[in-house]
Amino acid sequence: MNIVIPSPLEHSRAVDRLIEGIPTSDGAGVKLTRVLTGKLQRRLDPFLMLDAFGSDNPDDYIAGFPDHPHRGFETITYMLAGRMRHRDSAGHEGLLENGGMQWMIAGRGAIHSEIPEQEDGVMEGFQLWLNLPASNKMAAPWYKDFSSATIPEYTTPDGVKVRVIAGSSNGVSGAMTRETTEPLYLDIHLPAGTEFSTALPVTHNAFIYVYRGAVKVGETQVENQRMGILDNAAEADGVRLTASQDARLILVAGKPLNEAIVQYGPFVMNTQDEIHQALDDFRNGRFA
Ligand code: CO
Repeated sequence: MNIVIPSPLEHSRAVDRLIEGIPTSDGAGVKLTRVLTGKLQRRLDPFLMLDAFGSDNPDDYIAGFPDHPHRGFETITYMLAGRMRHRDSAGHEGLLENGGMQWMIAGRGAIHSEIPEQEDGVMEGFQLWLNLPASNKMAAPWYKDFSSATIPEYTTPDGVKVRVIAGSSNGVSGAMTRETTEPLYLDIHLPAGTEFSTALPVTHNAFIYVYRGAVKVGETQVENQRMGILDNAAEADGVRLTASQDARLILVAGKPLNEAIVQYGPFVMNTQDEIHQALDDFRNGRFA
């Protein structure tokens, strides 16, 4: 789909902080970069975590993520390249591959595994954790796979390609819409010498993460493998990006919940008591 950008922004958000992720491993030894860590959960409310993974060395990913539980939030896995098999305790099974996305609402509890279905080649993508409001943390678990072909895309007159994973951008609605946190999740490909703008609600916390090339937001350069946290300037109506070289990035924004965040590994609740309850429920087989 080709679109005309409805109207230029009056005032773009700027970069508030640049963040370099922390190399770590998770699951059965999958190497990844934790870009959004616990220290940023308050600043980037409603987002709890962003992991970036990318490797062409099977030793970095082959063991995958065997059975593990989640409670109290949503996970959004976006696969740029690779094949990963998902299975969960509610009986769902799916294959996530090149350009596809999986959205899981863990709610009161899901146990799942994510195992690579490839023995070589590149595995690259992101896992984002989105918090649930207190009133929804114990909702029934839900899950859906979106193949690449089902993710809406548009191209601007400049040739900027935008994949709308969640929310809406320049009049194009994404694959998912969520109430309360109203997440926006875009994958943006800018050819060298182009510019791109999209509106952002003033209520939302927002960040970009560059995974190819580099972009500028105002005067600030955001290099490859860096997160730029966008400011919350009251007068800003969106964000404008410029690329002097080919660049790719994700743009993520959401409405903060402003509720207490208590995390213990894969459980994110509002109180310590709820965490104890989650552990007790998990140990006693009360997860789905
Ligand atoms: Co998981």
